[in-house]
Amino acid sequence: MKTSPAATRSAKARRGAAAARADAELKRADRAHLIHAFASPAVIDREGAVRLVKGKGVYVWDSDGRRYIDALASLWNVAIGHGRPEVARAVARQMRTLEYAPTLLGFSSEPAVRLAARLARLAPKGLTRVTFTSGGSEANETVIRLVRLYWRLRGRPDKIQIVALNRAYHGSSTGAASLTGMTAFHHYYEPMMPGVLRMARPFCYRCELGLTYPQCALACADELERLVEREGADRIGAFIAEPVQGVGGVVAPPPGYFERIREICDRHDILMVVDEVITGFGRLGTWFGIERWKTIPDMLVFAKAVTSGYLPLGGVLLREEIFQAMLQAGPGFSLHHGFTYSGHPAACAAALANLDIIEGEKLLPAVRKKAPHFAKRLQALAQSPLVGEVRCAGLMAALELVCDKPSKQPFPEAARVPWRIRSAALRRGVIVRASADTIVVCPPLIVTPAQIDTIARVLQEALAEVAAELAQTGALGPAGAAASTLPLPGVR
Ligand SMILES: Cc1ncc(COP(=O)(O)O)c(C=O)c1O
Repeated sequence: MKTSPAATRSAKARRGAAAARADAELKRADRAHLIHAFASPAVIDREGAVRLVKGKGVYVWDSDGRRYIDALASLWNVAIGHGRPEVARAVARQMRTLEYAPTLLGFSSEPAVRLAARLARLAPKGLTRVTFTSGGSEANETVIRLVRLYWRLRGRPDKIQIVALNRAYHGSSTGAASLTGMTAFHHYYEPMMPGVLRMARPFCYRCELGLTYPQCALACADELERLVEREGADRIGAFIAEPVQGVGGVVAPPPGYFERIREICDRHDILMVVDEVITGFGRLGTWFGIERWKTIPDMLVFAKAVTSGYLPLGGVLLREEIFQAMLQAGPGFSLHHGFTYSGHPAACAAALANLDIIEGEKLLPAVRKKAPHFAKRLQALAQSPLVGEVRCAGLMAALELVCDKPSKQPFPEAARVPWRIRSAALRRGVIVRASADTIVVCPPLIVTPAQIDTIARVLQEALAEVAAELAQTGALGPAGAAASTLPLPGVR
């Protein structure tokens, strides 16, 4: 029987009304039940969360049908872009064959073995052993426990302190958050884990030692030597740093930094650990960020882009000698560190498919080729009165926001200037992140030059919009900090 046009229209209207009701209910349930971290609960309660429903390539769509360029690769992780059927197929295949198998208690699974071997092949030479986790924080917990274990097995039980950099981000579980060098992750949550020593970071724009590169001769790396003198090498087990600080505002150490750190670590028997949770798997145009500095760490932490976020996975690669210490402990020793989901077969299958794409589509050389264009477009934003400096490394960048360029004075937190810029970009269809005093950009590695241009244009408009608002209240220039907290017309 043929349906009349009127009946078709009313069926469509009914479907539309049902979809609108379901959407309203999801919005209500989101507000009522789902906690959104790394944002102000009060702001999310007022504004609601952006519910994403679909992704393809660099784009995601929200529940209202709006399309965004995901210029943060979601959470720095979706390297290959959204909606890749190859990964979905690999995961489905594994789920149908064997949905789960542990790597604990003497069991194993093919994807976990294949991935461990592949990572050992890709990693800097000598990092031969892999232990898996579900993400970056768990991986850094693993570092803390393995550092202690290693030095105990080597008969040096007091080497338990770990040196970490100011404004480092290593995760938000208690041990990892203790390594994290941001007060926001500490002050409501204290006491933190004892035994973390803090060190100046290699941040040349606002050098914490008040020096200038290159005349400083890498004094910030030599701070490690000062810490050893103060605490004693027998009490320091490891040094940890991100090759390029991500959440801390895309801070890349100058040439020679990690080589100097390696040399100090070697001299004092300190394990050198690099946290590659953001920089791993192509972000800087190399498999691992540390390859920029001609040095090899003792432990390498990974997560995020190992699966491009398709499933949760992280882990730590260890230098062979560290594992040898466990072997030499003999059959009486068991490794009491691991997680139910260490090496989850479906997550490992996702990682293998993801690595196939990164290799097959030659994304590492592509990043190296696109990086100069990305840097040029983003550097141009330094012309905004709000931007003190633009820092780029591979396909990641941060705009350092200041209310007065000559004095480099940041905006007071209460003015929420980075969040306003992020929201202005979001309204124009580009997702970036407000992180401390910066706006961070980190698109999927597959981003095209034209999409980079759009990201830069939208950021320019967002900066101009917020600069105009701030100028109205006299919030720019040397006296700007005080004025920038005044309420602004129409600002959410
Ligand atoms: C360098 C670094 N380490 C560790 C983590 C924590 O990873 P996860 O959120 O997977 O626990 C992050 C997360 O952003 C990170 O950037």
